[in-house]
Amino acid sequence: MQINLNDKVAIVTGGGRGIGRVIARTFAQEGAKVAIIDFKQDLLDDATAEWQKAGWDGLQVNADVRHKDQVASAVAEIEAKYGRVDILVNDAGVASGAKVTELAEETWDANFDTNTKGTFLMCQAVAPIMKRQKWGRILNAASYAAITPSIGSAAYASSKYAVVGFTRVMAGELGPYDVTVNCYSPGMVPTLMNRFADAPPDRKEKLLDTLTLRRWGTPEDVANLLAFLASDLAQYITGAHIDCSGGKYATQFPSLAYEQV
Ligand SMILES: NC(=O)c1ccc[n+]([C@@H]2O[C@H](COP(=O)([O-])OP(=O)(O)OC[C@H]3O[C@@H](n4cnc5c(N)ncnc54)[C@H](O)[C@@H]3O)[C@@H](O)[C@H]2O)c1
Repeated sequence: MQINLNDKVAIVTGGGRGIGRVIARTFAQEGAKVAIIDFKQDLLDDATAEWQKAGWDGLQVNADVRHKDQVASAVAEIEAKYGRVDILVNDAGVASGAKVTELAEETWDANFDTNTKGTFLMCQAVAPIMKRQKWGRILNAASYAAITPSIGSAAYASSKYAVVGFTRVMAGELGPYDVTVNCYSPGMVPTLMNRFADAPPDRKEKLLDTLTLRRWGTPEDVANLLAFLASDLAQYITGAHIDCSGGKYATQFPSLAYEQV
């Protein structure tokens, strides 16, 4: 059994850096033609250089997923180049917050605009193409915050809980067209979004204590899951919310097991 994305056309939003960059790379290594959407030109230029060096078939498109017109023209450009869209990964995301009593309206909107509305707009643009093809895979980035939220994360966690609900509605609407729609929740993958790698040592130990596998996640851990979900092998999985957190709080005190080894 092999994951094979040969000749599939994939879009990865937020593919300029972090987890999305590695998802795009992994799909290319599995044979897909990959279009990266990001709104930071320096990240796109950097990705373009990597892709040209590796000889992968890819396209880098500057668009902001918060804006319907930019989403529409990005998807049109990608469809014009490749003739189809088989896989959509909605990875683009932001995270900011404060306790509810101090939470600015702008912060609430910023999280919802990118994480939730951006996912909606991308799905709305791509779904008609996938319906016509009668095949498609949509993968939406939720977050462990949409399983167990932390204090101060009301805006981010709520925007990601909304992604989980939205994913299930989309799965229902697209089921008759053989288009599957799932979401996935990384736990703690050190990136520039969260800067876990820069935390003081005692804080790092406390965070690692929450994980059954007691190590940070890597972008590759997430990308490998997504390569499977994007493939033909995952044809009977839809409407699911998949935890990719290394077993965060799988038990109440995961670190106890390490004290008893
Ligand atoms: N890193 C983690 O531990 C973790 C945990 C749970 C969920 N997630 C989710 O995974 C996704 C990726 O996270 P990451 O840590 O790689 O973040 P990151 O900040 O490193 O990367 C996010 C990318 O999205 C792009 N982006 C942001 N807003 C955009 C917009 N409006 N339009 C287009 N592109 C935009 C950024 O330019 C960047 O390239 C996010 O949705 C995040 O919420 C991450």
